[in-house]
Amino acid sequence: MQTTRRHFLGRGVVGLAAVAALGSLPSWAFAEELVRTPRQTEGPFYPDHLPLDTDNDLLIINDGITSAVGEVTHLTGKILDATGSPIRNALVEIWQCDANGAYLHSGTGNDERRDKNFQGFGRFMTGSTGEYLFRTIKPVPYPGRTPHIHYAVKLKGRDKWTTQLYIKGHSGNEKDGIWRGIKDEKQRDAVTVDFSPLSGAKAGELAAKFDIVMGQTPEL
Ligand SMILES: [Fe+2]
Repeated sequence: MQTTRRHFLGRGVVGLAAVAALGSLPSWAFAEELVRTPRQTEGPFYPDHLPLDTDNDLLIINDGITSAVGEVTHLTGKILDATGSPIRNALVEIWQCDANGAYLHSGTGNDERRDKNFQGFGRFMTGSTGEYLFRTIKPVPYPGRTPHIHYAVKLKGRDKWTTQLYIKGHSGNEKDGIWRGIKDEKQRDAVTVDFSPLSGAKAGELAAKFDIVMGQTPEL
């Protein structure tokens, strides 16, 4: 498993280089095109007990030898302020149900079928590029909801900010009350992203990219 982890971290370095290149553009060059990421409900399943491991690899808990069930997804993006500048020291948290629809929460459905190898929750603190990186599974539907990944972004001196990420083209989106509740089409598009094959990776691994544009400037 150590090999897998190194491989995973190595990919992060490539991503950071790409972000550094983008950073050479002045922020006004693309500020007008930025769509603010809509804030969405935290929902009822933010973990009420944290996992033993809260790192950014949700597929392996601590030094476990068995990986979680699901379609492996490398989930990356940047935390940006409203002008397109990266936000550093943003604590990004994600949580989602496992491949059987169970959350890491005492009130979850399907608890008896919970995948014990899925971390269910992870954290990443951004550096100067604002980039975050997780390895997780492609989200699956559970009764009443289209597939989604929950996000919380915590900035110093600010209230917790939450949103949700969706799969572009998933037939469940149109029937989902929370997704439909985002009335601005551009904002809805901004939280609905491709999960596409990760180039150069093992067969079946996916990549998804989700930049979050906060409607505020953080206190630095
Ligand atoms: Fe949820």
